[in-house]
Amino acid sequence: MMQRWSRKKTHFPLLVILLLIFIVFTVLYNELSIQQIHEEPDPVHHRQETSITYVKPNRLSPAHEVLDRFSKCNATRDYSGRRIASLDRTVKTGPRRVASERCDVFSGKWVFDNASYPLYNESHCPYMSDQLACHKHGRPDLGYQYWRWQPHNCNLNRWDVTEMWEKLRGKRLMFVGDSLNRGQWISMVCLLQSVIPANKRTMSPNAHLTIFRAEEYNATVEFLWAPLLVESNSDDPVNHRLDERIIRPDSVLKHASQWEHADILVFNTYLWWRQGPVKLLWSAEENGTCEELDGKGAMELAMKAWADWVAAKVDPLKKRVFFATMSPTHLWSREWEPGSEGNCYNEKTPMELESYWGSGSDLPTMRMVDDVLGRLSSKVSVLNITQLSEYRKDGHPSIYRKFWETLRPEQLSNPASYSDCIHWCLPGVPDVWNELLFHLL
Ligand SMILES: *[C@@H]1O[C@H](CO)[C@@H](O)[C@H](O)[C@H]1NC(C)=O
Ligand SMILES: *[C@@H]1O[C@H](CO)[C@@H](O)[C@H](O)[C@H]1NC(C)=O
Ligand SMILES: *[C@@H]1O[C@H](CO)[C@@H](O)[C@H](O)[C@H]1NC(C)=O
Ligand SMILES: *[C@@H]1O[C@H](CO)[C@@H](O)[C@H](O)[C@H]1NC(C)=O
Ligand SMILES: *[C@@H]1O[C@H](CO)[C@@H](O)[C@H](O)[C@H]1NC(C)=O
Ligand SMILES: *[C@@H]1O[C@H](CO)[C@@H](O)[C@H](O)[C@H]1NC(C)=O
Repeated sequence: MMQRWSRKKTHFPLLVILLLIFIVFTVLYNELSIQQIHEEPDPVHHRQETSITYVKPNRLSPAHEVLDRFSKCNATRDYSGRRIASLDRTVKTGPRRVASERCDVFSGKWVFDNASYPLYNESHCPYMSDQLACHKHGRPDLGYQYWRWQPHNCNLNRWDVTEMWEKLRGKRLMFVGDSLNRGQWISMVCLLQSVIPANKRTMSPNAHLTIFRAEEYNATVEFLWAPLLVESNSDDPVNHRLDERIIRPDSVLKHASQWEHADILVFNTYLWWRQGPVKLLWSAEENGTCEELDGKGAMELAMKAWADWVAAKVDPLKKRVFFATMSPTHLWSREWEPGSEGNCYNEKTPMELESYWGSGSDLPTMRMVDDVLGRLSSKVSVLNITQLSEYRKDGHPSIYRKFWETLRPEQLSNPASYSDCIHWCLPGVPDVWNELLFHLL
């Protein structure tokens, strides 16, 4: 080729040569980017490139039946390998909005501080949940309420309730996700409600969307139950204890129609994917046949459908979007105290071991989340609560909460067996998640 090139060169005017060089470069460049797309690792599964079908998530009202807790799969087959189109093809990578340019506020340590903490009194918050009111349900040690998060290289802006209300004036703040995110919402309401006179605030009844409203600020703090982000058969805020999870991996519309009007959004999703496999019912599936996929693979599909919505609909100048990373669990004390056989029950102090990471926080999932959020660049800010919450083995309700079922005698005689080591006592760890949100707003 080089030979022919130089041979012809003499006969061609300069302009034509430049044009040819341009064409050659363009072709080369295109081939390169195609190669890059093809070489992208596929964390869900490894399949022949030729067998992958990309599905564009719904952005308009779906024609299909909306899933509810009575939905069933007519049949189930193996996962076909279909993927969500948006992020694999259209969204460009760009520099992520770093939590704070100067300092990583998520890297730090817990400092005992009973002078400034807790930020509110458990019994003074009328919106407290019985699942999280640990003192009310008999927890004798209150140490878990007295810890402040101290970033290594800077200080957090001090929580200031009036300043937070000013940030929220005329706005809708909405938390969207599962019960961990609901805990953060309750924490936020408890942090905020004390300065609003009782006759100037309202709380709507518990529903798919629950709304706390403060009249004088014309502001709301809301919680939308959407544990899997995409449409699913678990979207009933009360009755969602189902054996089989069914999602529509290409549809966030059912929930997005509610969340799209919020000004500040805080999303989370994680624990519900840990009990896979998950049934996928694609919108184009006419006969009600589901596909089955492991939890992490299904979570990736859901995250990408959600990300497609963010990429298409979020103007960062008008809307702030946050994503809270996985909330850690402390189900096995042998992970932080080798040889022991308990869980979080009776834990009274945070861990001191720097960068402790338990098995409840799945690293491949974190990398997948990194990747999805990274592609959304400046449209999403990360609330990276995982590492700081990992240290707080003392922060869970364990047995000090209201349980829905009456406990059996053998459970009562062995407290460790029925501990809740997933959710968090309030006041407690989620208050600090909200201080971080306040810091970043
Ligand atoms: C804070 O803790 C210290 C040490 O445990 C104790 O001496 C002090 O009385 C506590 N202060 C408050 C306000 O609880
Ligand atoms: C919370 O308020 C109650 C009742 O006013 C009081 O008895 C209790 O000591 C307070 N608790 C804390 C941790 O301040
Ligand atoms: C209250 O806030 C909403 C937006 O959430 C806005 O549309 C409305 O005009 C505001 N009302 C007043 C009285 O400021
Ligand atoms: C649905 O079922 C009909 C009748 O059995 C069949 O012809 C059709 O191919 C099926 N559609 C899909 C998408 O599987
Ligand atoms: C599932 O099968 C039943 C009975 O064959 C049919 O009535 C129903 O429409 C199917 N569901 C879907 C979503 O196609
Ligand atoms: C969150 O922080 C951990 C370190 O604690 C890091 O490995 C991870 O990449 C971060 N995730 C995101 C989404 O920023």
